[in-house]
Amino acid sequence: MREIKTFFVKTYGCQMNELDSEIMVGQLEQRGLSRIEDESAADLLIFNTCSIRDLAERKVMGKLGKLGRTSQRNAVIGVTGCMANAKKDSLFQKIPHIDFVLGTNNIHDLNNVLDDVLATGKQSVKTDDRFTTELDYLSAKRDDKVKAYVSIIRGCDKFCTYCVVPYTRGPESSRTPESIEQECRQLVSQGYKEIILLGQNVNSYGKDKPEWNCLFHDLLYRLDRIPGVERIRFMTSHPVDITRELMEAVRDLPSLCEFVHFPVQAGSNRILRKMHRIYTLEQYREKVNMLREIVPEVALGTDVIVGFPTETEEEFQMTFDVLKEIEYSVAFLFAYSPRKGTPAMRWQDDVPEEVKQERLQRLMKMQEEIYQKQRQSMLEREVEILVEKKNFKDSALLKGRTRCWKNVLFPGDESLIGTLQKVRIHSYSHQTLLAELIGVSNLIDR
Ligand code: 5AD
Ligand code: SF4
Repeated sequence: MREIKTFFVKTYGCQMNELDSEIMVGQLEQRGLSRIEDESAADLLIFNTCSIRDLAERKVMGKLGKLGRTSQRNAVIGVTGCMANAKKDSLFQKIPHIDFVLGTNNIHDLNNVLDDVLATGKQSVKTDDRFTTELDYLSAKRDDKVKAYVSIIRGCDKFCTYCVVPYTRGPESSRTPESIEQECRQLVSQGYKEIILLGQNVNSYGKDKPEWNCLFHDLLYRLDRIPGVERIRFMTSHPVDITRELMEAVRDLPSLCEFVHFPVQAGSNRILRKMHRIYTLEQYREKVNMLREIVPEVALGTDVIVGFPTETEEEFQMTFDVLKEIEYSVAFLFAYSPRKGTPAMRWQDDVPEEVKQERLQRLMKMQEEIYQKQRQSMLEREVEILVEKKNFKDSALLKGRTRCWKNVLFPGDESLIGTLQKVRIHSYSHQTLLAELIGVSNLIDR
């Protein structure tokens, strides 16, 4: 039987993966293993992977391939996350030196699979199609001491034609409000100041369990009542499921931050239809207008895909125009990447790579002008920030975020980490706002 004492975890992809890694770290520490940062010295290596675009998969495959040519061959190697579900045991053919493949819906099986591998020396795979067993969220081992991810719903039922998530994470499955509340209460009592509610589509929360009588906005009202909870955020939202009740919650709940990630994906109705986004641009715009009317200071985030199959220059221009019109404060911009098993694979990936990249560049340039305008408008403003950590590059500076998710740096003492402070923005450098401290925040200033 092989013996292991230490482990190393590398996480690729989204926040849901980061949280899943934290849960796995908790499970491994419970069995007496120690986490180390030195990959080359660890007895167990876990790669928690992402399949959302080809580049994400290639990065992992390159990394795993390399391990077979180093001394790390002797370590136990596990592949978890979306690639595990997308590729299942075919990964063993491609990378023979990996020991186990554990899917996104089998995290609770980690220690059993590991026992199995250690006892038998054989490869093991577990990749269930749906999430059925609740995880031990309370023993997740979190790196961050100020903000914590809390999973409220897993999976996705939307089936956008380009997206692998409904296949790698399975159908939507909400977590009970009692369990979510218990975790949030524990986090607050441990000193966490910000809770980030996670789901592929948080706005679907509770729809799969009508008997609970608790939709997303009901959950938010419940969590806002927890004494000591300073900030709550959520991501991601599908525009179709964003309701007036949710918008009113953003307006009315003191802890709920005024930032909504609200991906438009494309600006042309023909492309939106082909993407199966189930809204038209007009319907999307109506929701944005309603949200801005109800919460005038709200900041919006989006995701956009350029170069979807058959996208013409005119259709790209419509995406460009929407971004210009809406002025998002955060925009994640992607070139379309065909994913195996998705409906969009039926269509030829006919927008040449250079055209995709050129469209992306144009979009980024315009979005940068919007950011610049927004930074300019922040000058001389006094805002509330939650101090998160020391700045990576210059440790005399602290890093915090506004309620609207803007990064701010300011000189200050480490003891301020984890507190809410009022700062005055005086300038900016690249993407980051620079500020000076005014004092402890007793305002909920937006
Ligand atoms: N190609 C490019 N971008 C994609 N996304 C999802 N699938 C793909 C794909 N096949 C983007 C979407 C989504 C974000 C998380 O990733 O914009 O909102
Ligand atoms: Fe993918 Fe669409 Fe579901 Fe988002 S809503 S995870 S883009 S299928």
